[in-house]
Amino acid sequence: MSLDDFGAAALRRMDPETAHQLALAALKAGLGGRHDARDAVLATRVGPLSLPNPVGLAAGFDKNGEALHGLARGGFGFVECGSVTPRPQPGNPKPRLFRLSEDRAIINRMGFNNAGLEVFARNLARRPEGAVIGANLGANKDTDDKAADYVTGLLRLRGLADYFTVNVSSPNTPGLRNLQGRAALDDLLGRLAEARGPEPLFLKIAPDLTEAEIVMIVEACVAHRMDGLIVSNTTLDRPDSLRSAQAGESGGLSGAPLRDKALTTLGWAHGVSRGRLALIGVGGIASGADAYARIRAGASAVQLYSALIYEGPGLVMSIRRDLADRLKSDGFGSVQEAVGAR
Ligand code: FNR
Repeated sequence: MSLDDFGAAALRRMDPETAHQLALAALKAGLGGRHDARDAVLATRVGPLSLPNPVGLAAGFDKNGEALHGLARGGFGFVECGSVTPRPQPGNPKPRLFRLSEDRAIINRMGFNNAGLEVFARNLARRPEGAVIGANLGANKDTDDKAADYVTGLLRLRGLADYFTVNVSSPNTPGLRNLQGRAALDDLLGRLAEARGPEPLFLKIAPDLTEAEIVMIVEACVAHRMDGLIVSNTTLDRPDSLRSAQAGESGGLSGAPLRDKALTTLGWAHGVSRGRLALIGVGGIASGADAYARIRAGASAVQLYSALIYEGPGLVMSIRRDLADRLKSDGFGSVQEAVGAR
C-alpha cells in the first residue's frame, strides 16, 4: 500500500465531508503524488483541446479551484474545477455527502456550495503552468434567469481556463435540469454562443434522459456550435441492487451503480453525433477497462471522481497504464484511433 493509498484508507474512516476538506488541505499543502501528466502513448485531443492523457478529474472535487497545483501533480490529463456560481452560496444543510461503501457509490446533495466567481477567478489566475484546467459553471439557487448566470461566469472567466463546462445537470439545484428541455436549452445555448470566447465549450448532461432527449440535445449543441458533451452527471435513480444503509438519502448517486447507465447514455450521444461533437465519458469509471469501454463507445476522454474516494489517488496512474496496455494489445496506435471503435 502506498502512502497515498494509506491516506485514502484513513480518510474513508472519517465523516465524508471532513475527509474531503482534509484531502483538499493536503493537496494545497503540497502533499500527494508527483506524476507527470505527459504520456507519450496516451496524448490525445477532445475536439480542439489537446490533452497530455485522457484521464481527467471530474467537477465537484475542487469547487473553488483552490488546490489546482496539487491536483495538477496527480497525473490527470485535465482537471475540471467548479461548479462555480456567480455569487457565493453555502449549499444545502449538512449532512449532504454520503458514502455507500458496500455499493462503491456516493450520494451527494451539496447544492453548489462554493465561494463564488471572484474567489474562483483569483484562484484560476494563479493556476499551474502547463496543466489543462477546465472551469465548470453553475447557477445560483435563487437566480430566476438561470441562463444569465452561465453567461456571467463565461464572461468573467474568459481567458482564465482552457475550456468551459456548462453544467445543467446537477440534481441538487431546483429547476436546473429543466434547462435540458428544448426551448430553455435553445435559449441558453444561443446566449452562450454570443458570449463565448475562443475556449472550447462543453455541455454536461444528466444520465436520466431518454434517447429521444439525447438526440434533441445533440442536435441543439451542433446547431449552436458547442464543442462537446460531458456524459454524465449523477443519477436520481436508486437501483434495486443498492445495499448500503444510506441508499435512501436524497441527492445524486455516483460511482459503480451509475456506470452502465452513463455508458448507455454516452452510446446514444455517439450514435447521433457521429463525430460532430466531442464526447467526454464520466460516471462509475474505476478501472482501465471502464475507461477503455467508454472510449470505444465514443468518448475522446474520461473523468472520474467517486472511484478516487474508494481507490485513492494511485488509481489515476493505474488506469493510465492499463489503458495503454489495452490499446496496444488491440493494435491501436493512439487513443484517437480507438474512439468509437466498438
Ligand atoms: C459531483 N459532481 C459534480 N458535477 C458538476 O458538474 N458540478 C459539481 O459541482 C459537482 N459536484 C459533485 C460533488 C460530489 C460530492 C460528487 C460525488 C459529484 C458530479 C461528478 O462530476 C460526476 O459527474 C459524477 O460524480 C459521476 O462520476 P463518478 O463520481 O461516478 O466518477
